[in-house]
Amino acid sequence: MPTADAEVHLDPTALAAQMAEDVRDGLTHRPRTLPPKYFYDARGSELFEQITRLADYYPTRTERAILDAHAQEIAEESGAETLVELGSGTSEKTRLLLRALTGAGTLRRFVPFDVDPAVLEEAGAAVAQEFPDLAVQPVVGDFERHLRELPRHPRRLLAFLGSTIGNLDPAQRAAFLDDVRASLVPGSAFLLGTDLVKSPDRLVAAYDDTEGVTAAFNKNVLRVLNRELGADFDLEAFAHRAVWDPENEWIEMRLESLTAQRVRVDALALEVELAEGEQVRTEISSKFRRQGIADDLAAAGLRMTRWWTDPDEDFALSLSVPV
Ligand code: AVJ
Repeated sequence: MPTADAEVHLDPTALAAQMAEDVRDGLTHRPRTLPPKYFYDARGSELFEQITRLADYYPTRTERAILDAHAQEIAEESGAETLVELGSGTSEKTRLLLRALTGAGTLRRFVPFDVDPAVLEEAGAAVAQEFPDLAVQPVVGDFERHLRELPRHPRRLLAFLGSTIGNLDPAQRAAFLDDVRASLVPGSAFLLGTDLVKSPDRLVAAYDDTEGVTAAFNKNVLRVLNRELGADFDLEAFAHRAVWDPENEWIEMRLESLTAQRVRVDALALEVELAEGEQVRTEISSKFRRQGIADDLAAAGLRMTRWWTDPDEDFALSLSVPV
């Protein structure tokens, strides 16, 4: 079946305007922040791929092992006709799911959903090749803004893997889960991948690897801003930091200014003074507990029906349904 043209909810102009607004907002408030979604240009996505293969970065391979072990059950439990995958940079894991779902005989349609049309094109083409009978209907959008615009297919499995939900702060997470709930008709299900709380040593090592790949990934956001917004960040003048916040149970990635410096962002006509030692927060990566996830889902009108982990309980997949 030919891949359909992508349904576009976010064009390049809107994306650029959003970036400008986000960056102005983040750099003019204290503590200074930059949103993690701007890590992922072609280079950033490649660096993230490298991260997923690092010995210290356990989440990707652990989630894959859980999926590998339970894809059949997930498929039978959901009986999905449509698989929607948010943030489709995970094609390998998607394929495990698609194999199980087509094996179960129910799946008709795959809807990869991503901000990046290039990612969608690649994901769509690869899937169409392996699953020629599947209708592939890509959607370009931001999962924090356009979920409610998805067609409300019956018997839909909405998958959000990789613990990307960890990038949202609690208020953003609640709003996101409300949108998920609103987009699901009865008979649908939500498959969520979440990284779990564990020893701070292992968590910090996962975000501050000895090979410096995560440091390069973190600094990549500065390259993106230099290119997209005409900023003049000097990457050498910043250091990567990864800090465990035990109160919030999240890892923070930060970029620390190594000197007192002034940064210009031409497209925003903005100058930012950074003190020596001042840190810009570039990502939170929340770690979860089973009860907390069940509570968050319940608050959005979703009931957790299944919970799968690896033997060490490093990572979890949960399935939930609208109540
Ligand atoms: C893709 C958001 C799940 O938070 O672990 C990896 C991104 N940041 N190393 C994560 C990331 C630093 C990753 N997510």
